[in-house]
Amino acid sequence: MAIIKPQGTNDFLPGGEDISSEKLQKVEELLREICREYGYGEIRTPIFEYTELFQRGVGETTDIVQKEMYTFADRGGRSITLRPENTASTCRAFGEHKLYGRPQQPQKLYYIGPMFRCERPQAGRFRQFHQFGIEVIGTNSPFADAEAICLAWDIYSRLGLKDLELHLNSVGCPKCRAEYRKALQEHLRPALPQLCGTCQDRFERNPMRILDCKNPNCKNLAAGAPTIDQYLCQECAGHFASVQAILTASGIPYHLDSRLVRGLDYYTKTAFEILSGGIGAQSAVCGGGRYDGLMEEVCGQSIPAVGFAAGIERIFGALKAQGLDIEVETGLDVYVIATGDDAAAQQRAFALGQELRKAGLRVDFDLLSRGMKAQFKAANREGARFAVILGGDEFARGVAQVKDMQAGEQVEVALAEVTAHIQSKMA
Ligand code: HAM
Repeated sequence: MAIIKPQGTNDFLPGGEDISSEKLQKVEELLREICREYGYGEIRTPIFEYTELFQRGVGETTDIVQKEMYTFADRGGRSITLRPENTASTCRAFGEHKLYGRPQQPQKLYYIGPMFRCERPQAGRFRQFHQFGIEVIGTNSPFADAEAICLAWDIYSRLGLKDLELHLNSVGCPKCRAEYRKALQEHLRPALPQLCGTCQDRFERNPMRILDCKNPNCKNLAAGAPTIDQYLCQECAGHFASVQAILTASGIPYHLDSRLVRGLDYYTKTAFEILSGGIGAQSAVCGGGRYDGLMEEVCGQSIPAVGFAAGIERIFGALKAQGLDIEVETGLDVYVIATGDDAAAQQRAFALGQELRKAGLRVDFDLLSRGMKAQFKAANREGARFAVILGGDEFARGVAQVKDMQAGEQVEVALAEVTAHIQSKMA
């Protein structure tokens, strides 16, 4: 039996039906372009890290660490994990390479790449998926939070996506959260036996996550629970008000959502998600927030930071749901057609093709020794703008036939002039 790909993974193919590799590249180009405009530099970290990084960084009590990580022992017996996200790795690299010592502060970093979570696959949820993310490390300014949100908003606007909702919350700092946690537990304690198993588990470990449970019964039981906004300390409340004021001044609409609890432990103060309707239960196209305690956890340096990550497959899900598509330019500039069935004919076509490629043109030629008619068909199929027909006679006379496939005109051109002729026609 033929081997197939693991569940929850995707193959991205050139010319592929759903998410072609060309469309993926186009979206990645847009993301890189936006990062250049905002002054972010790319960071590439390993796809696997020591497991401890995520245990400490993402948090022992999170679903990710408890049940979703691809963890294995390597040949040396060390516990390795395929990265489930890239914020912890970015902080690890920031500390390891002492980026805090660089003159330019804060450091503004972005990444694009695969992440791995052993979740139950469903629409928009994969086991290997791709994230684009940014991290701004070294500032507690609310402008950094707002800039991260504006950058995220820009991505979806430029892609033409509409009806997105920005949900915004402040999850406070360890100081105000301790008070809130107590109040929440007091409120939920009488209902504890009726909560789902997962929420009963969360009650001691991470009661705020109960507010995020999708189980309708838990939702009901938590309906009247106190919300964090009533418990924010002065500093957190001030920071949150500033972030909102900057967003309002920037024309970014947001919904205050005091029940927004992110699934990772490291958040402090700002937390946000952008949701897109029509893509099913997995409607978060991106999520992020401030994480002022993570650098301390990972590197022992207390450095404030903020960022977000966006699921790239979900961008495509949202585009599809809104009847939008990514336009990609495919097709060749030139297809070189060899006539004559001797090896010399192919050698001539090959040499001319290489010359045209050196001039920056997109060129293909026949690799299956097909007849001229089939080669023309291939030229059409590959969307070639020009066909250059090169036979033994023509070669002997130092010329080739150049056919403009759109206009249908064919002219004879001196071999030495073919490149210039095509370039001038294309200009
Ligand atoms: P996250 O909310 O776990 O946050 O993931 C961010 C985004 O990645 C989600 O909003 C979603 O679009 C996408 N995503 C997550 N899991 C899957 C999956 N199984 N399949 C497809 N897409 C998925 C983080 O990862 C944080 N590191 C974000 C962050 C950066 N916070 C601060 N800086």
